[in-house]
Amino acid sequence: MKIELSNTLKNVPENVFYPIFKLISEESSSNKPLLNAGIGVPDSDTPELLLETLEKAIRKPENMRYGAFDGKETLLNEISIWLKETYGIDADPKDEIALVFGTKSGLSSVPSVLLNKDDTVLLPVPSYPDYIQGIALAQANYEEIQLKEENNYLVDYSSIPSNLVEKGKLIFLNYPSNPIGAVATKEFYEETVSWAKENSVIVVQDHAYSDFYYNEGSSPCFISTPGAKDVGIEFFSFSKNFSISGLRIGFAVGNKEIIEGLRVYNSIFHANIYGAIQDTVVTALKNHKQLTSNIKDTFKNRIEKITNKLDELGYSYFKPEGSIFIWLKVKEGFDSQSFFELLLKQYRIVTMPGHVFGSGGENYIRVSLSLSDTQIDTLLAKLEQLNKDLEK
Ligand SMILES: Cc1ncc(COP(=O)(O)O)c(C=O)c1O
Repeated sequence: MKIELSNTLKNVPENVFYPIFKLISEESSSNKPLLNAGIGVPDSDTPELLLETLEKAIRKPENMRYGAFDGKETLLNEISIWLKETYGIDADPKDEIALVFGTKSGLSSVPSVLLNKDDTVLLPVPSYPDYIQGIALAQANYEEIQLKEENNYLVDYSSIPSNLVEKGKLIFLNYPSNPIGAVATKEFYEETVSWAKENSVIVVQDHAYSDFYYNEGSSPCFISTPGAKDVGIEFFSFSKNFSISGLRIGFAVGNKEIIEGLRVYNSIFHANIYGAIQDTVVTALKNHKQLTSNIKDTFKNRIEKITNKLDELGYSYFKPEGSIFIWLKVKEGFDSQSFFELLLKQYRIVTMPGHVFGSGGENYIRVSLSLSDTQIDTLLAKLEQLNKDLEK
């Protein structure tokens, strides 16, 4: 018998990172070491306090049994307190917060929760590529909205053609952004809310890098904008700020109907998130300030060090105000794939070619800031050598 996969699954585009990871893995089998500036999680170790909490939590009998579908009250309450303290948001733990199995999973399920076949998503690009697969799984479509440097890579709502605005049922936002490092402003979110209301477009803001914001104060938060809960939700991740990406947990906050939809969706595919993981995140949130206190300075120093040298070497780039990446323009005569391969094969540096992040990325590579001081020195020395080689 010939077994065929469903058309829905066949129509989901391949994960764009697969061919890139394949190339990297072929190169890593050679005995010349690679410098990994392609990585999307910070280089810090998981805090000891969280490891201790997890160790204790796995011994609790309640955590070895089915738990409440929507999550432990202790965690939902703690998230609500944390949102109030950090962003001034009032979020009811009963019906305005949904736990997700990592924001990747939550973001991928949103289209299935909200869209019907052939509905249209507005997708600002370059962007994190995983949104596209969720859209395909819901049998919906997307239209790219080009983000531009002259607008600091914020969506320019006035430039979206009216036929797209009319078709669009949902828009994905991501600030601080992957791959660019652009950040939102309070005014931008105010404009977003009124545009979304006027045009009946649902807003899904991905705040996975909420703690990776290098200006004064906290990263502007969509859902704290007046009226935002009427039009959308915002996702937060615990993966990056607490170095626990392997635990797979995040949450969404905002509009009650959407939150209810996410909860129903989760209850179909999973039971609860493992209780020991939920307990660990309660501790993480209670100690948030202390556990994340060095992020700003560490990453700001790295950005300064790298961009000073890039200036000296004559590179063009977007100076990030958030996230953990530098969006670097390729050298003349290259595109993102050929420059990525040159760096990988000849200079033994792993980056991410910009084209995987959608149109607008063809002449860029994404360089991760997840590097130690020594690794940064090596990276900069290699880029200097590359400059000299290209001048020959
Ligand atoms: C913009 C963005 N959103 C979401 C995620 C997924 O994070 P999580 O580990 O919470 O699934 C990532 C991971 O790289 C990301 O870069």
